[in-house]
Amino acid sequence: MFASLNDHHGNHALRRSLANVACWSIAGALAAGPASAAVVRPATGPDAPAIFSAESLARTDTLLRKMTVDEKLGQLSQLFQFRKSSKLDGMVREGKLGSVLFVTDPAEINRLQHLAVEGSRFGIPLLFGSDVVHGYRTIFPVPIALAASWDPALVERASAIGAIEARAGGIGWTFAPMVDVARDPRWGRIVEGAGEDPYLNAAMATAQVRGIQGPSLGTPGRLLATVKHFAGYGASEGGRDHDAANLSDAQLQNVYLPPFRAAIRAGAGTIMSAYMDLNDVPATGNRWLLRDVLRGQWGFKGFVVSDNNAVNDLVPHGYASDRRDAALRAFKSGVNMEMASYSNAYATLREAFDQHAIDAAEVDAAVRPILATKFQLGLFEHPYVDEAKARAAVQRAPEYQAEARLAAERSAVLLRNEGNLLPLDPAAYKRIALIGPLADSRQDTLGPWVFAHDLDDTVTIAQGLRTRLGAGQTLDVAPGVQIRRTTPSPFESIFKEKTPPVWDAAHAGEEFEKALAMAGKADLVVLALGEKQDMIGESASRSTLALPGDQQRLMERVVALGKPVVLLLVNGRPLDIGWAHAHVPAILELWYPGAQGGTAAANLLFGAASPGGKLPFTWPRNVGQVPLYYGHNLTQDPSEQDRRYWNEPGSPLFPFGYGLSYSTFKVGELHLSKTRIHAGESIEATAVVENTGPVTADQVVQLYLHQRYGSASRPVRELKGFERVTLRPAEKKTVRFTLGPDELRYWSASAHDWVNEASTFDVWVGTDSRATLTTTFIQQ
Ligand code: NOJ
Repeated sequence: MFASLNDHHGNHALRRSLANVACWSIAGALAAGPASAAVVRPATGPDAPAIFSAESLARTDTLLRKMTVDEKLGQLSQLFQFRKSSKLDGMVREGKLGSVLFVTDPAEINRLQHLAVEGSRFGIPLLFGSDVVHGYRTIFPVPIALAASWDPALVERASAIGAIEARAGGIGWTFAPMVDVARDPRWGRIVEGAGEDPYLNAAMATAQVRGIQGPSLGTPGRLLATVKHFAGYGASEGGRDHDAANLSDAQLQNVYLPPFRAAIRAGAGTIMSAYMDLNDVPATGNRWLLRDVLRGQWGFKGFVVSDNNAVNDLVPHGYASDRRDAALRAFKSGVNMEMASYSNAYATLREAFDQHAIDAAEVDAAVRPILATKFQLGLFEHPYVDEAKARAAVQRAPEYQAEARLAAERSAVLLRNEGNLLPLDPAAYKRIALIGPLADSRQDTLGPWVFAHDLDDTVTIAQGLRTRLGAGQTLDVAPGVQIRRTTPSPFESIFKEKTPPVWDAAHAGEEFEKALAMAGKADLVVLALGEKQDMIGESASRSTLALPGDQQRLMERVVALGKPVVLLLVNGRPLDIGWAHAHVPAILELWYPGAQGGTAAANLLFGAASPGGKLPFTWPRNVGQVPLYYGHNLTQDPSEQDRRYWNEPGSPLFPFGYGLSYSTFKVGELHLSKTRIHAGESIEATAVVENTGPVTADQVVQLYLHQRYGSASRPVRELKGFERVTLRPAEKKTVRFTLGPDELRYWSASAHDWVNEASTFDVWVGTDSRATLTTTFIQQ
């Protein structure tokens, strides 16, 4: 159980639900379930918190009364500033922009802010946005890696550090967290979220919002968060970026929307509308999503920003007839602010107003939360950055780098460790060969979505190992192969480490042989393989999960030398490593581990840190199995689960929640506080976890739930609680999970509503999604 969410909302939800028991509708019960089922409609009313103070709202209303329509409409546009442009300056001066994104130089922020404040009759400041995704100056592991830590407190600290650094540099707003559930690892943006599970995504979303914004919106020194991309982007067909998502209502409500709702419950001030079609209606023009669900059902009080150019792109999408129509549709659907790098369709809203297509009340409603946010963030009082302080504040901070190292260590997942090859015995290996294209690349150690860092902070795996090895030990390093995208990344111009020239065939052959020769002389080979950071992320989907380039051949040739081999994976999605799983004794998933990744890798390899991360997705045997996720529905014959393909098992290579340790653990004594409850009540599950091995290490105890029957068929199991614990050898701990109405309810396709039904529930507690320790309870 991610305790904080439970503490803050569990009791609330329980109270609400109990209240609902009293007014339980018979009609609802009949519609929702089988004859015997008592159905309580759990509380699903608007429960988004108030994010603005009474003062911010009052000041907003006072200001709104004085502003002209043009002044108000100007606040609804946000433009990119990649380079200085006189057009942009003019727009700022004339009050035609509410926000600018991607300005990171404090002096430039101040220059633009002076234009805005002095140009506006009311001194309305600009809000400066940027994608602070896994750090600003200090780069943390990528979000999928942080999710693999199953440690929300760590994730909150990482987000807070990114926010503190960015705010010191003059940024007010980040476009994070991304909470899109991703069940198809071909989709490149799987790296930016928390993987396949709604519960884990919700936990990570909550932690990130708290880290970014602090305890409440407007906490000094923190940022405004954006939960994105609303909604269904992770379900784009075929894993192709931006492709349509076709999701049933039940899938949307039970799987894709809960992380958004969790982020909003945590107080996220803004939400970003996605690019793609959701069930044939582009998300940025989807009134049901942006008004009925977001504001009506959830009570969201902040503002909606479109994804970049997504308003204008309603035209190529085949939804709007032209730019004006696109702006009108997005506005009417509930997009408050248009983000654009080129299109500024919202500039046409004045015409729409003149033609009475939109009225003054609609304009006020659109601009109100934007102005309230600016008041709440204190921008009217402190529009400018202290440039000297800003530069000092974003200097390298050793304590933040230490957090980044800890995060990289806690994110790593040990996938295989035959014969306990890891941790390495330093005395046993005098000469180590580190081979692979990801062994010594700074940009790839960091991962995608990094902008304001200093590349020199980055410790690559090669540097980390070199620092750790003692006298008398030698490290030889060679890439062996070069890997590259077959089409260039659209983001190449912003990479700080320039892409090296392409090797010709002769050079490639020499490098390959050089690496093999190095491996041949070594006592132990560490392979650093995976994907370059531009092979994943936005516009970086792949049709295959194979190791790119010649890495597979390199690995096979190295293994054929007969030396002990450790495979370090640097990547952000599961890769096709079936061969490695059969032939390489130790495999450690490092992800894109961030600036201190190399130090973390060395600590993990030599046992100064013990891996305790767990997979936030199911790892398929090969790409043909995807989508493959643990929370699938049952079939008429569950026993055939592993015979669904005739050519290979249907089961994954590694299950969701999986990860080994340098120690061993026992989980037992599973008890429930009751065996029967009434709908609306809570039940407590406890289990005892014991470190039965030789070293202090971490384990993530996970609770899964299954409802046996009801008005709809429920997934075979669903994560409903987890806790990461650190235990010394022989130490035991009792972990507690509360299963309340929030955990037991679901959106039923029969009832077309949220239900909490009479049924038998199975509970499993263990160390991955295959947990076998089980018990049951009845809800009546
Ligand atoms: C497009 C991406 O989809 C979104 O996630 C990002 O925040 C914006 N570009 C701004 O960079």
